[in-house]
Amino acid sequence: MTPFVLASANPHKVQEMRAILQSFDVELLARPTYVPDVDETGVTLEENALLKAWALVDATGSAAIADDTGLFVDALEGRPGVRSARYAGDGASDHDNVTKLLDELAHVDPAERTAHFRCVVAVAYPDGTSFCVEGVLDGVIAEVRGGDQGFGYDPVFRPLASRGRTLAEMSPAEKNEVSHRGRALRALAEKLV
Ligand code: IMP
Repeated sequence: MTPFVLASANPHKVQEMRAILQSFDVELLARPTYVPDVDETGVTLEENALLKAWALVDATGSAAIADDTGLFVDALEGRPGVRSARYAGDGASDHDNVTKLLDELAHVDPAERTAHFRCVVAVAYPDGTSFCVEGVLDGVIAEVRGGDQGFGYDPVFRPLASRGRTLAEMSPAEKNEVSHRGRALRALAEKLV
């Protein structure tokens, strides 16, 4: 099986990706420290995931896996979407982004707070070929934060089938079973074997 270099430098995400792929025969290598971050200039998750994967292939000569995730809130016409990481501005923390989201939804009814996480995983090979897979998780945005697991928007995202819990109130294993990234990576593993 080809080893893949992982594009992400976010330790939470790398941990999740390794946990999800560990039961499949996929070898993941950490991103070498000399590879710089890529500017995510694409207007879709697919474009950004491919930009990151190709940058890594170019820098290392190895096959690469990169993901790009966005939170799409219906009442906000799909925002924050591809700008999820920088929603409250360049360099914004997870806390800042969640605060901005809760403020914008302050007057939105619980029934109208539907949202979707989309995760696109891109795979690129030194021979110039590539493909993408996607995973989606449907849920609602809670009115207040709950839980201390996970990262990003986890404290305010309640998956539809979670009996009212946010992703941050689930164990890592439970989150991986239902999450957008879990779904995308299992779809990826099926394509690789
Ligand atoms: P990235 O594309 O994975 O860098 O994610 C973009 C933004 O979405 C960042 O603000 C992340 O914190 C957030 N994000 C990505 N994945 C998740 C997740 O599984 N739960 C909560 N937030 C996430």
